[in-house]
Amino acid sequence: MALLSGKLTRPGRCSLRFEWRLCLALSLAPVAAVAQPYGFGEVATPEMIAGWNIDIRPDGTGLPPGQGSVGEGEQVFRQSCAACHGLHGEGTTAAPALVGGIGSLATAKPRRTVGSYWPYATTLFDYIRRAMPFNAPQSLSADQVYAVSAYILNLNGLLPDDAVLNATALPKVVMPNRGGFRSVYQSVGP
Ligand code: HEC
Repeated sequence: MALLSGKLTRPGRCSLRFEWRLCLALSLAPVAAVAQPYGFGEVATPEMIAGWNIDIRPDGTGLPPGQGSVGEGEQVFRQSCAACHGLHGEGTTAAPALVGGIGSLATAKPRRTVGSYWPYATTLFDYIRRAMPFNAPQSLSADQVYAVSAYILNLNGLLPDDAVLNATALPKVVMPNRGGFRSVYQSVGP
């Protein structure tokens, strides 16, 4: 637009047949329209934002109150997960294995599971809470998600049978592949 040149000049597309001021007003009309509200949508309330803001960071930031044991998690798993993931998380044609493969990543037959591949235990809580069960996401309580996370980690040999997980204990679980990732940018020189 002519205004961008720094001083007010006649807009280039104005025909000489138009009166100059009218032409300038028409040129600026779209700019003025941007400042007007469009008249749809609504301001998001803190409750609405909280419903979307459910991510959990690797260090556990964002984990909700609550707790669950391996034993309780076994019940949740049988009821809500086993039909697709198998009774012991071994996987079926409907859903991937959640257990096993630890130590296999650098072999000729790598098996990527929660136990062998995922670097942070906290991601398990985040993923299950937001996406599982596949057919009813976000239907589990925080206690149920802690419990079923504990059960999956126990099936992978990463937690004892009597373990109880909460916001303090979950980030302390060290996953076998914690050091297995590196930034792709490290290998690219400046
Ligand atoms: C209706 C079938 C179904 C049910 C029930 C179900 N899942 Fe899943 N699950 C899937 C499918 C399909 C995937 C793969 C999704 C993808 O890769 O996008 C998956 C992926 C996962 C993963 C990620 C695995 C990986 O390594 O990428 C986890 C963890 C998981 N499910 C946990 C659970 C838990 C816990 C429950 C029960 C609370 C559950 N699922 C119930 C179908 C199901």
